[in-house]
Order: sequence, then C-alpha cells, then structure tokens
Amino acid sequence: GQLHDLAVKAGLEFFGTALGESHTSDSAYISLGTDSSEFGQLTPENGQKWDSTEPSRGQFSYTSGDIVPGIAAANGQILRCHTLTWHSQLPNWVSSGGFSYSDLQSIIETHIANVVGHYAGACHHWDVVNEAADDSGNWRSSVFYDTMGTDFLAISFNAAKAADPSAKLYLNDYNLEYNGAKTDRVFEAAQIIQAAGAPIDGVGFQGHLIVGSTPSRSSLATALRRFTALGLEVAYTEVDIRHSSLPPSDSALVTQGNDFASVVGSCLDVDGCVGVTVWGVTDKYSWIPDTFPGQGAALLYDDNLAKKPAWTSVSSVLAAA
Ligand code: G3I
Repeated sequence: GQLHDLAVKAGLEFFGTALGESHTSDSAYISLGTDSSEFGQLTPENGQKWDSTEPSRGQFSYTSGDIVPGIAAANGQILRCHTLTWHSQLPNWVSSGGFSYSDLQSIIETHIANVVGHYAGACHHWDVVNEAADDSGNWRSSVFYDTMGTDFLAISFNAAKAADPSAKLYLNDYNLEYNGAKTDRVFEAAQIIQAAGAPIDGVGFQGHLIVGSTPSRSSLATALRRFTALGLEVAYTEVDIRHSSLPPSDSALVTQGNDFASVVGSCLDVDGCVGVTVWGVTDKYSWIPDTFPGQGAALLYDDNLAKKPAWTSVSSVLAAA
C-alpha cells in the first residue's frame, strides 16, 4: 500500500510532502509528488513565503505561491499553507525594520489579509507563525519580536482567522521533539496566544532530525501530548532525518528507518496528532546539503527516486496501526 492510504486507514488525516516550486519540469519528481495515494497532502516549499508574496510593500505576487496549490487541487491533495510571520525569507523592506509598533502591526495585518485571503478556502492548515523561539529556548530576536514583543503572535493568528475562518491555524517550530527549553518556550507561546483569546488550532513539530539522535517513540509522544493537553491538535510538518556523514552505511539506513518509524509511530500513539508531512519527495532536492554541508540523504526516496529502507519502515508502522 501507499503511505497516505495507509495513514488514513490508521486514523490520520494525511501523509504528505513539501513540493519545491523550482523542480516542476522534472516529470518523474512531479509524477511521484502528485501520487495522492502516496502523498495525500502537499506543502509549498517556498512560494508562499513573504519574500515571494509581498516583495515590496503592498505589491502582492502569487506566481510562485500558486504553483503547489494548483497542483494539489488538480490531484485531490490536501494543502498545508506555509508560512506567514517568520523571521526568514523576509524581503529587505520588512527585515530592515525601523517601524513603530502600530506600523508593523498594520504591515503584518495587511500581509496576512492579502495572502490568506488569496488562498481562502484552499488551505486545510496555515503555518501562521513559524519559529518564534530560538535554538536556546529564548524568544527569537526578529523584526517582529524586537518591535512588538510577543504581541505579534496573537495579532498574526487573529488576522489569519479573519481572512480565512475555515483554515486550521498552526504555530510551527523545529526541535520541539527534544522536549527541552525550546519546547518550553513554544508551549508558552501557545498559552500566550490562547490567553489572548486568539484562534490557534494546532502546533506543528517540524521534525528536522538526525539519524541516531532521534528521540524514542514514547519520548516523542510525551512531547506531542504537552500540546494536545492544551486542547490543540499537533502534526509533524517538515520531517527529514539526516545522516551526519555521507554516504550512509547499510546499518545507518536501518537506523534511519527506525527513527522515521519512531516519528510516525508517535503520531499514531497520540490522539490529536493529525498527520505527517516529509520535507521533500527525494534526497535529490533536499535543502540539507546547502545548510549542513556533507550531511543529508534525509528523506524516503533516494536521488534516483528509489524507495529507501526508511520507506519500508514507515509503511510497516502505518500498516501495523
Ligand atoms: O529565490 C532564489 C532564486 O531566485 C535563486 O535563483 C536561487 C539560487 O540558489 O535561490 C533562490 O532562493 C532559495 C530558495 O530556497 C528557493 O530555492 C534560497 O537561496 C534558499 O535559501 C531557500 O531555501 C529554503 C529555506 O527554507 C530558506 O530558509 C529551502 O528551500 C526550504 O526547504 C527551507 O524550508 C524551511 C521551512 O520553510 C521552515 N523550516 C525549516 C525549513 C528548512 O530550512
């Protein structure tokens, strides 16, 4: 069976993938990425980010942002939309700052009203705020936090709700899986949003993990349950599990499969974990070697689009549920 179909049988809403807007001329890639029994959900890898959708103030562009939503609609795939208030991939006119509180509030509200409005009705989820905590578990310094403190959180969620009442609204971050200081800070962020009366539905665990250092299935479930205890749903939104040296040995490929099974298994174990998205179809196009030179091979399909041992591990854990 294929992964999305198995995931649905196991009680999840979806198993999906990010799709890169710049690889659409690779027909083998697109044919696998649009197989809705394998990947029943798509996330645009880059096209909906601020630098792409509002490159200058008040000038909105959806050329790249529309690519993956169009593919998902044509193939009956669920769409997770990504992302709105994020410190990275901002155009210079935003990241350079110098705004008053009220000017920046208006900039955020205008951006979200336009972008979420453009996709209204099409997005099952929106990653409204991305990566609000830094790697040490402090609030991340950004134009948003530095200008507004934590007020940008509720402001962003309220604006998204106003523009698309039907999308489920997510706070998304990485390294939540380790249940440490960063998880504590994102837990606090979720509570701040709720205490402000703003409409948060879920927390996304990105799941950018490392082969051999991935927490156990039960530890992962414990971290997920901290958030479902707040009445929120959770999802794994950007999973990849990278080898820290390449090429991987046969035993490293087995460990990678076990780590993927821990991630997917933990979602199956937690009521309120709705789905798993991998951050790419194939190792061929992963972001990892650009950011972590010498590392990678983090996905379920290799450079030749052949299934890796991790594919079989994911398939087995879903089939066993
Ligand atoms: O848009 C330019 C293009 O004009 C130029 O020709 C090309 C040349 O390299 O670069 C293009 O921009 C790149 C962009 O991806 C689109 O390909 C950027 O340099 C590159 O930095 C960017 O990387 C993306 C990264 O986010 C940026 O932060 C990765 O593809 C994307 O996978 C990655 O995804 C993030 C999630 O959104 C949030 N969580 C972490 C995750 C991994 O970093």
